[in-house]
Amino acid sequence: MDIKNLSRLVNLLLALTSVLLIFFIMVMLLKFDMLVFPDNSEVSADVNDTTEAASPENISSEVVDPYTVLEADDALPIVVGNCTNCHSARLIAQNRATREGWQDLIRWMQKTQKLWDLGDNEDIILDYLAEYYAPENIGRRRNLENIEWYELK
Ligand code: HEC
Repeated sequence: MDIKNLSRLVNLLLALTSVLLIFFIMVMLLKFDMLVFPDNSEVSADVNDTTEAASPENISSEVVDPYTVLEADDALPIVVGNCTNCHSARLIAQNRATREGWQDLIRWMQKTQKLWDLGDNEDIILDYLAEYYAPENIGRRRNLENIEWYELK
């Protein structure tokens, strides 16, 4: 065996070892969950929560709409359509006021924040807010759980 063939053999062996080494590292990474692939498991977990919220045991009590965190009610689409264009619904869910208080807030947003005239929907929205987001101990809204609050800047 001359020196040329020997060096070819060494190169071949080196290449083989590298491939094996990479394979081994991949297997170890996979085995110990160190490779992170994007997956939708969190999203589907949320979807599961929805079905839980709407399960038969919960139907008699109020149900929080999982997408807006607002109380589910016939008026919800109107509230969402008029009240979530400029800020998160959470801003509503974390506030409580009497019907008058909510009306004052709407007037304030109309005067200073370009909120439009709500027309006939105003009564529907106010009824909804007064029912579910009334001051503590009066309203029927239940406590929020697992909410990530955000600071207004
Ligand atoms: C045209 C935009 C716009 C629309 C539509 C709108 N708001 Fe607002 N709203 C604002 C702005 C701007 C603020 C101030 C946010 C801030 O303080 O950062 C605000 C603040 C609020 C606050 C917080 C008030 C506080 O004291 O911190 C609540 C609650 C609220 N809005 C409820 C509503 C409700 C209910 C509706 C539907 C009737 C609505 N918003 C629709 C613009 C809007």
